[in-house]
Amino acid sequence: MSDTAIADFGLIGLAVMGQNLVLNIADHGFTVVAYNRTVEKVDRFLANEAKGKNVIGAHSVEELCRKLKRPRKIMLLVKAGKAVDDFIEQIIPHIEPGDIIIDGGNSHFPDSIRRAKYLEEKGFLFVGCGVSGGEEGARYGPSLMPGGSPAAWPHVKPIFQAICAKADSEPCCDWVGETGAGHYVKMVHNGIEYGDMQLICEAYHIMKEGLHLGSDEIADAFAEWNKGDLDSFLIEITRDIMKFKDADGTPLVEKIKDMAGQKGTGKWTAISALDLGIPVTLIGEAVFARTLSALKSERVRASKILSGPKRSGHQAEIDKTEFLSKLGQALYASKLVSYAQGFMLMREAAKEYNWNLNNAGIALMWRGGCIIRSAFLGKIKEAYTNDTKLENLLFDPFFKNAVDKAQSSWRYVISQAILMGIPIPAFSTALAFYDGYRHAKLPANLLQAQRDYFGAHTFRYLDEYTDDKHPKDRDVHINWTGHGGNVSASTYLA
Ligand SMILES: *[C@@H]1O[C@H](CO)[C@@H](O)[C@H](O)[C@H]1NC(C)=O
Ligand SMILES: *[C@@H]1O[C@H](CO)[C@@H](O)[C@H](O)[C@H]1NC(C)=O
Ligand SMILES: *[C@@H]1O[C@H](CO)[C@@H](O)[C@H](O)[C@H]1NC(C)=O
Ligand SMILES: *[C@@H]1O[C@H](CO)[C@@H](O)[C@H](O)[C@H]1NC(C)=O
Repeated sequence: MSDTAIADFGLIGLAVMGQNLVLNIADHGFTVVAYNRTVEKVDRFLANEAKGKNVIGAHSVEELCRKLKRPRKIMLLVKAGKAVDDFIEQIIPHIEPGDIIIDGGNSHFPDSIRRAKYLEEKGFLFVGCGVSGGEEGARYGPSLMPGGSPAAWPHVKPIFQAICAKADSEPCCDWVGETGAGHYVKMVHNGIEYGDMQLICEAYHIMKEGLHLGSDEIADAFAEWNKGDLDSFLIEITRDIMKFKDADGTPLVEKIKDMAGQKGTGKWTAISALDLGIPVTLIGEAVFARTLSALKSERVRASKILSGPKRSGHQAEIDKTEFLSKLGQALYASKLVSYAQGFMLMREAAKEYNWNLNNAGIALMWRGGCIIRSAFLGKIKEAYTNDTKLENLLFDPFFKNAVDKAQSSWRYVISQAILMGIPIPAFSTALAFYDGYRHAKLPANLLQAQRDYFGAHTFRYLDEYTDDKHPKDRDVHINWTGHGGNVSASTYLA
């Protein structure tokens, strides 16, 4: 083993994702040096999976750094949290200014913001990189979402764009933005994934409980949708899941306990939306739907106490083929709203954290390799390429037309599901958002009056009603009751 700096890329953490990324990078002609804290793991990996490839091992962080060409590029694929900080501290004594530390784990973006600042202050470069696509993606083409120190990008670009997924022959990896932008965009990706999955589950629920379809018929519906606008990885795997039979010949999916797990990235997205004041309602509902599902024993008790709508015999009149086509439209329109909300959130985050986000680039990164990959994201990329200043995806002429076309089906499906008593939180919040967003006037005037009535929180007059008695752009308080003393709100003005 040579001690000279011969490796192009260093990777720490040889769990499955790490091993697969090493092999993927080596396959593209780069020499990789790999290290794992349990050093037997390094030797076993070199003797097995990595045998005959451009992979060399290191038995210490120091050795890994010594074997890397400058500027060093060291990627961490370790458990998010303390392990990342610990490894950063272990690496620092062995690197030089301009060297690059890449965190490819599922880190929460505030940590990446902190680490970028910390390393940049010491003269090093940091990249927080979202990685999606699972084990298979890591091996043959993940979606990579790198952000952090801009000066690092030219150095990691050739490697990342070589190993990532390709969509329409373009690499699904581009520079996302400064500090924590890469991990933020990955977080929103996961949030959108929660939303897409919940929408698909609601469609399944409607087909099963509303239309009384069997799993093969449901699989057929997903197969059909996968040939059109809804063509996506998640629809495709849902089709396969619906078809999958247990040893006794019955669909396995029906034997799975209906309690959803979660790791927290959907929740982080919803929390960020609340913090930034952006109505990302669909992801929020998707997170809550998982938490409701987790209350299994309570739901079982509730099912015996609480009643739903009486069976009206109405379902018998429904034309299943026609309903399924409408359901597909409803799914498409709801999904579009969810993506529009996700991009609204990223726009606000970019303002808040001073990131320069490239929307078309983000859509392209999600277009292939990752869990939400779909034909639809190709259209979103097109929308942002056509108009880089596009204020909202729903304003793009192609998508505006798509919603116009879907609208009556969307409303029909939602109202039918509500009449049948089938819970559709994601479908219905999508429509509620759409209707709210397209209203120039909402009932918040009454809300402001209530706030002023009980708390003297003040309000403003609509421009068209301003005159001597109704000042423009001023916080006003009104004596609503004709009694009571002076109010205490500090903004008291009238
Ligand atoms: C190293 O290998 C062990 C054993 O396979 C694994 O559990 C651990 O996550 C790996 N990563 C690091 C950073 O040590
Ligand atoms: C982008 O512009 C082209 C040319 O005007 C148009 O055909 C296409 O539908 C647009 N795409 C989207 C998603 O708006
Ligand atoms: C509110 O109006 C009543 C009746 O006109 C008056 O007596 C009272 O002083 C007013 N209160 C304040 C705080 O202006
Ligand atoms: C209410 O408070 C203001 C400012 O403190 C005072 O000028 C005014 O006389 C008070 N009005 C009444 C009705 O107490």
